Amino acid sequence: MNSTPTGGKLNDVAEGRRRYATAAIWMHWTIAALLLIQIALGWIMNEVLPDHTPSQRLAESIHISLGLTILILVVARIALRLTHRPPPLPADMPGWERTLSGLVHFTFYLLMLAMPLTGWALVSLADHSISFWGLPWPHLPGIQAMLGNPAPKATRQAVKHIHVFILIWIFMAAWTLHVAGALKHQFDGRPVLWRMTWLRPSAAR
Ligand code: HEM
Ligand code: HEM
Repeated sequence: MNSTPTGGKLNDVAEGRRRYATAAIWMHWTIAALLLIQIALGWIMNEVLPDHTPSQRLAESIHISLGLTILILVVARIALRLTHRPPPLPADMPGWERTLSGLVHFTFYLLMLAMPLTGWALVSLADHSISFWGLPWPHLPGIQAMLGNPAPKATRQAVKHIHVFILIWIFMAAWTLHVAGALKHQFDGRPVLWRMTWLRPSAAR
């Protein structure tokens, strides 16, 4: 039977269409927090902890397991994104802002795949086994066939450079644009931040 929502219910339904799906909001903030923890952990493990010590090995094993966890979450998030259209942007948002925001979002999705995949490739080029929170995890399929077994040192260095440097700096640039864009819109009368929260528009303004 068809029923037409009325009163407060109508508002809730209309508002629901203007915000991201609840699962998308959870995914956005969980993955954002895990990514920042992961970058900090990668930096601490490489630059702060002394080499070849138990604490560095522990940090590395957490970094690997957390990175693979992020990869699984990102694949789930992309599946969710492909099946749930985001709410339409404010009608008066200029075209160049829409394009830039779309480009940054697309870059984020690419980075969220490329960062863990290059990390996985890096550990797959070594002969030792990979542990995922204590469970065995396979090497990245096809990577040794593609890059050599054993891969030349220069190839391993290149993969490492992409993982620990190039992608991280692209991520930082995209992140700066993303946060600046969200804050700009928050204060210029076209707030979008509440769309990615559980807040009501009036409470988030
Ligand atoms: C979203 C996921 C990931 C992010 C953002 C990330 C980020 C980083 C960062 C920032 C560093 C150190 C940079 C520095 O030296 O200052 C690093 C190093 C490293 N990461 Fe990741 N990582 C991710 C996933 C992974 C995964 C999934 C693996 C393995 C399965 C991995 C393996 C490694 C290894 C082995 C190093 C040390 C490289 C070396 O110095 O030899 N990472 N990562
Ligand atoms: C590691 C950090 C972050 C990543 C990787 C990330 C990634 C993303 C992605 C991919 C989208 C697009 C969602 C889609 O349409 O499919 C998005 C949307 C959004 N993000 Fe983030 N984000 C991060 C941090 C933040 C922070 C810190 C803020 C707040 C200042 C924020 C605010 C928003 C808002 C408001 C939207 C919705 C934009 C719209 O309405 O079109 N994000 N984010």
